[in-house]
This record gives sequence, C-alpha cells and structure tokens, in this order.
Amino acid sequence: MNIFNDHKKLFTTAGLLFLVLTFFTAIQPALKNQKYNAPLPASEPLSVDALAGKNIYISEGCVGCHTQQVRNVDMDKMWGPRPSIAADYAGIHRQDFWRNTATLLGSERTGPDLTNVGNRQSSKDWQLVHLFNPRIVVAQSIMPAYSWLFDIKNVPAKGDVIVNIPAEYLQGDTGKVVATKQALQLVEYLLSLKQTELPDGTAAPDFLYKKESKAGKETSKPAALNGVALYTANCQSCHGDKMQGLTGPPLTNIGQRIFYDEFKNIILNGRGRMPGIPHVDEQTTSSLFRYMGGIPRSFPGRRGDNKKATGPIVDSGGARIKLDTNRALPMSDYPEGISHPENRYTSEYGMEWMGLAAPPWSSIVAYDLNKGTIKWRMPIGEDSAYVKGDKSKGAPAGTLRKGMIITSTGVVFATAKGG
Ligand code: HEC
Ligand code: HEC
Repeated sequence: MNIFNDHKKLFTTAGLLFLVLTFFTAIQPALKNQKYNAPLPASEPLSVDALAGKNIYISEGCVGCHTQQVRNVDMDKMWGPRPSIAADYAGIHRQDFWRNTATLLGSERTGPDLTNVGNRQSSKDWQLVHLFNPRIVVAQSIMPAYSWLFDIKNVPAKGDVIVNIPAEYLQGDTGKVVATKQALQLVEYLLSLKQTELPDGTAAPDFLYKKESKAGKETSKPAALNGVALYTANCQSCHGDKMQGLTGPPLTNIGQRIFYDEFKNIILNGRGRMPGIPHVDEQTTSSLFRYMGGIPRSFPGRRGDNKKATGPIVDSGGARIKLDTNRALPMSDYPEGISHPENRYTSEYGMEWMGLAAPPWSSIVAYDLNKGTIKWRMPIGEDSAYVKGDKSKGAPAGTLRKGMIITSTGVVFATAKGG
C-alpha cells in the first residue's frame, strides 16, 4: 500500500489519528467535566488563611495518614453524613508553582478521615492542643506531635494565641506555649473541612454493602451506645479521662449539679466552645448522665410521657440505691475506703419539684415593722426549666439560705435559682 511506502503520509495519518483520539478520550471529557462538575452551591471557597493552612497540611505530609474521601461503603459512614461525590472536589486549583492540584484524597488511613473534621472537632483549642501533642487529648494516639508549630515564650506578646498545655508535656519549660501563624492557619484549614450539604431535593448517594442484620432480626435502630463508651469517644478529649477537666471544665459529679434536661440540651446543642452531638439517643444520654452521678429524669408536667408505676405499691415507694453505681440526689458517695451500709434509701421528699404548692413559689417580702404590715411582695427567681421567662412565678428553691444585701438607699441585691 502506498501509505506504508510514503513516510510523510504515514506520519500525518498517525499524527491525525493521535489528535482525534486525544480529543475524544482526554480533551472533550475534561471540558465536559469542567462544565458539569461545578462546586456545590453551598460550598464556600477557602479563606486566605485556610489556603495557607492547606499548604502546611501538604508540606507536613498529613496526607500520609489521613484521607479526605468518604467512600460509598457502609464502613465509611462514620466519617460523614453522605458519601463524597465528584462535585466535592470541583474547583480545587493548583496550589502554587511547585505544588500540583491537591485534592488530598489520600490512600492511607492510619488516622481518621478528615472530610468532615471541622464538624466533628470544631473546637480551635482542641485542635491546637492536639497538634502540639496528640497524647494530651487522646492518650493512645500514635499521631506525631507537631510541636515545632508552636513557640514557647516567657512573656507572650499582646495578641498571641496561648495554648493551655499541661506542665508534664513541657519537659520542664516554664514559659507559655504560643501558637505560630502556621499552627493557626493549619487549624483554620482543619476547621474549614466540612462536608457540604447537597442542594435541596438532591438525594445523596447511598452507602452500600450495609451489614446484614443477624438472623433476620430487626436492627434498623443502631444499638444505643452506653454512656461510658460515649464519654471515652466524645467527651474525654476535652473533659479529661477522669472528668478532671482539660480544655473543657471538670465534670466530676456534674449529674448532681445540673438537671437532666439541661444536661441533654448541652449534649445535643453544645454550649460556648463545646460542639453539640445531635445524633445521640435518649438511652445513651441517660446512661451518660448516670455515669456522671445523676438520675436522669424529667420533671412532672414538663413532658407528657411520665408513666405511672404499675403493680404493687412496694414497687413505687422509697427507692433503694445501689451503692456507688447509681448515685442519687441529694446523696453523695461515701469517701473511698470508708465502710458503709450496703443499701441506702432515699425519699423524694422536698427534692422533687413543685410539690403541691401553687406559684409564686418564693417571694421577697418587705415588712413595715412599725405598723406590722406588709409593704410589698415580689416573686423572686425564675425557674428556667419549668416556666421560663415568667417572672411572676418565682423559683422553687427561692433565696433559701442565700443572703441578701440591702444598701442604705434601699436597693436590694438577692440571688435565686435562675438569677
Ligand atoms: C503517622 C500518622 C499520622 C500523621 C502523619 C498525622 N496524623 Fe493526624 N491522626 C493520626 C491518628 C492515628 C489519629 C487518631 C488519634 C488522635 O486523634 O490523635 C489522628 C487524628 C487526627 C485528627 C483528629 C481527627 C478526629 O476525627 O478526631 C486531626 C484533626 C488530625 N489527626 C490532623 C492531622 C494533621 C493536620 C496532620 C499533619 C500536620 C496529621 N494529622 C498527621 C495519625 C496521623
Ligand atoms: C471540644 C471540646 C469539648 C468536647 C468534645 C466536649 N465538651 Fe463539654 N464543654 C466544653 C467547654 C469548653 C465547656 C464550657 C462551655 C461554656 O460554658 O462556655 C463545656 C461544658 C460542658 C458542660 C457544662 C458544665 C458546667 O459546669 O455547667 C457539660 C455538662 C459538658 N460540657 C458535658 C460534655 C459531654 C457529656 C461531652 C461528650 C458528649 C462533652 N461535654 C464534650 C468542651 C467540650
């Protein structure tokens, strides 16, 4: 054939074929991808600091241990509410001249996937402490410490971000640990890692290969976690392994200091710098509350689901408390090593709410001692749990055993439950 004898014709034909194939297999799909894979409408571009943080993430080699991809398999469910899709990676640009487009999907998962870590660990303090030395907050962690992202200063300058590091992690240094700009930028990047919501009405792809329920039994609800497990997994990093407090306040016997409803509210919605964990079920929160020394109960009238005990009267009388496992208001544990009776009993007398009295439950009363009359009477306190915002009811505990201050001009300072 002529074409095989004429090298010009041969090379032109092969060259053209190469170009046509390149167009159909590489250029055209790339153009299409660009057109159809715009970033999700709700996604936000990285801030300048977060972008700088991403470069630090790359240069420190975090991708060697951390993925950023939630695969569509059931075991990845813990890393994000939905599997990652192509649009999650759209709009990712080349970092700079030296560094290529970094999607940072990663292929090695020695540490947790970080796709959604900004939602999971949204506390800046926690992230800084963890970077300085992961063992401070996760005792068993094998992640390296990135302490070179921090300075130790005897006199921190104004505006320095000081990180509270327990003394035993400072190897004798007595200065304050100050986060460098790089540490702050890296944390800014980590906090920006949040899985973007799909536009309304778009169904997320399914997680596949769900674990079959055993023997056909119904297990549609995930088994309730027990409180201790939840504490270890979600609370200990900020509140300490013995509830002694770290970046969060100590929680020793918190169950005896706050009411169950408030406790549940804190867990579900977070408070201040503490992130909430909205997916915890009732059984787990109540088990956790017990673990923290409280009795999980809502107060009568507050919720409609209080059940009356059925059966013989002896079942609903004074409650026997199992020693040390099931502490109850107002009893505290005996100190350790002290011998004490096997069983303890409590009555709810004076401990339950409301009793039989109608509001106002407590008032400040001004007497005219010359005439023996009452000059005025004001309800005091506010029961935030029961009649929130209603100042006419007073608080059940009132000012009981709390002193008042009266100034010479007649201003009264008094505290009561609810402020
Ligand atoms: C040798 C592997 C390794 C390297 C390198 C590494 N990590 Fe980790 N990382 C882990 C492990 C293991 C954990 C889980 C234990 C823990 O929380 O410390 C973890 C946990 C984390 C967490 C908490 C995730 C969560 O869900 O609670 C963050 C955030 C994190 N790493 C960020 C980083 C950053 C940023 C870098 C780079 C500066 C980095 N890691 C480098 C192994 C590593
Ligand atoms: C990222 C760190 C962090 C995590 C994780 C965390 N907390 Fe907190 N927690 C805090 C901080 C900070 C406060 C103080 C909030 C405020 O009042 O500003 C707090 C406050 C509390 C309080 C109120 C304390 C009081 O004296 O009023 C309770 C109760 C509590 N946390 C329980 C929990 C439980 C239970 C968990 C686990 C499910 C948990 N926390 C996880 C940081 C954290």
